[in-house]
Amino acid sequence: MQKSLPYLAIIIVLLYALYNAKFRHVKKKAEPKTDTNYAKHIKEHGTVTHMQEELAKLQTQQYLKKYIIDVINHGSAQFDFPGGQMEGGFASANDAPKIACYVLELSGKQCKEPYPKDAAMFYSSICAGCHGEDGKGLNGSYPDLTKDKLLGIQKRESFLKRIMK
Ligand code: HEC
Repeated sequence: MQKSLPYLAIIIVLLYALYNAKFRHVKKKAEPKTDTNYAKHIKEHGTVTHMQEELAKLQTQQYLKKYIIDVINHGSAQFDFPGGQMEGGFASANDAPKIACYVLELSGKQCKEPYPKDAAMFYSSICAGCHGEDGKGLNGSYPDLTKDKLLGIQKRESFLKRIMK
């Protein structure tokens, strides 16, 4: 046993060297997620066209509606309102598009497919407690949903512009 110890040591060292040679690429440190690295990454992977397309669509009503539906379903934790954050699922995924249409109408935007009568009732009973019956956010406690450009859309726009520079 004593005699084989040095051989055992050599074998261990060799195995370690082999492991290192084979898996070195895996262990390479990931680049930090800075804007510049991210921009490089998306250029290499061709997603930059997707971002250009998204930027072009950002002002459309369709995009806005999708954003509102998304917030209803998944919540929002992007800002710093006195009212805190918004959880997802206050309304069912089925009702979310109707409510989104009603939110659009609150600021005089016509929703393409007319919202059903119960949408107003859903909004009043589920959303108005925080965002107000008029959608204006109870004097700054919650986001004003009648703003020309919602905060989340503004934020996304400046993100995309920054990344694509
Ligand atoms: C309990 C209070 C509360 C309720 C109920 C609520 N929200 Fe919110 N909502 C918030 C808060 C707080 C935020 C901001 C959270 C953040 O920091 O991102 C928010 C954010 C939003 C935003 C994003 C605003 C922007 O400018 O980007 C939309 C859209 C929205 N809510 C729609 C709704 C709708 C529609 C309903 C009803 C289904 C609803 N909310 C129900 C509290 C609420």
